[in-house]
Amino acid sequence: MPSSVTLDATGNVLTLDHDGATYRFHAVWLRDNALDPDTRAPGNGQRLITIGDIPEGVSLSAAAMDGDSVTVTFQPEGKTVSYPCAWLAQNAYDRDQRSDLGWMDDTVTTWDSSQEAPSFDWADVQQGGASKRDWLAAVARLGFAKLTNGPTTEGALTDVADMFGYVRETNYGRYFEVRTEVNPTNLAYTGLGLQAHTDNPYRDPVPSLQILYCLENSAEGGDSIVVDGFRAAERLRDDNPEGFALLAGYPARFEYKGSDGVCLRSRRPMIELSPDGQLIGIRFNNRSSAPFVDVPFDKMEAYYAAYRQLGDYIDDPEMGVAFKLEPGESFIVDNTRVLHARKGYSGAGSRWLQGCYADKDGLLSTLAVLSDVREAAE
Ligand code: FE2
Repeated sequence: MPSSVTLDATGNVLTLDHDGATYRFHAVWLRDNALDPDTRAPGNGQRLITIGDIPEGVSLSAAAMDGDSVTVTFQPEGKTVSYPCAWLAQNAYDRDQRSDLGWMDDTVTTWDSSQEAPSFDWADVQQGGASKRDWLAAVARLGFAKLTNGPTTEGALTDVADMFGYVRETNYGRYFEVRTEVNPTNLAYTGLGLQAHTDNPYRDPVPSLQILYCLENSAEGGDSIVVDGFRAAERLRDDNPEGFALLAGYPARFEYKGSDGVCLRSRRPMIELSPDGQLIGIRFNNRSSAPFVDVPFDKMEAYYAAYRQLGDYIDDPEMGVAFKLEPGESFIVDNTRVLHARKGYSGAGSRWLQGCYADKDGLLSTLAVLSDVREAAE
């Protein structure tokens, strides 16, 4: 069916019928998103106008189909601009918008212990192309992925970050050692088991990716466990919506001052939602939780009950995916979603991991570029 376009009597709303769907657009939105070279720089695609450059009371005086495009004229500028129908359909906002508390994007798949750890080969992903894309796509969709057959050289973990972005340097250094220390500055540097947690919740912004890389692992125990925090939050939302709303609705507090010259603090919720309710982050870490002082007195007990319930889901053996890293193996976690834990270790042998942080924006950027290349090739 051919596309068609109409204007309302005021010239403020354009209606497009395209591919069996109907979309409305406001004049001000169309003007702001004009694709002409005076509005968008042809080279880098960046917008050349500000909101103040759009005349107040902007309206449409004409709209017509022109092949697969819609051509409109804006007043009072008298400016004529075309938009491909496919572009308008792709960017349509006149649709059912989600607003239920804790909704997740279609690109996210939550999981439990039945999930097999996605595993990729170092040499394959180093080559780029489809293997690299699939590796990054697994991190984007599931929030974690293993990498195997890497070198057993110190600092190799920074090469992992370099494959898609940049290391985030912190007070722990460009990367840090995770092995038993005398007088540790952090309980991670002991043989103790660690409850599943997200790292550095006391930092704002939190590092959104962590890479843990194994150099030695002959000790008894020391398995790594990952837990999908989004699945845990989903369970809490379904079983105790009021508790979910409390953990999302009030900031927790986190703090770290375990070494000289460092005092990191944040005030963020354990379950973070976007303004329209999308689940966007989990912060959960018993070691660095500070006193919660932002929850009203009459809600504190319910808040703690919800915190306990979320912890129960996180500790539930049905939730965790466990694996023991071999030397040269590593994994990435989305530190805004997937919690990691460690079983205690002791006795003969050694366990030596190195860890570093990186950020998801670089990973998602590289993934988008690799995905665009694939789409262009198809
Ligand atoms: Fe950790």
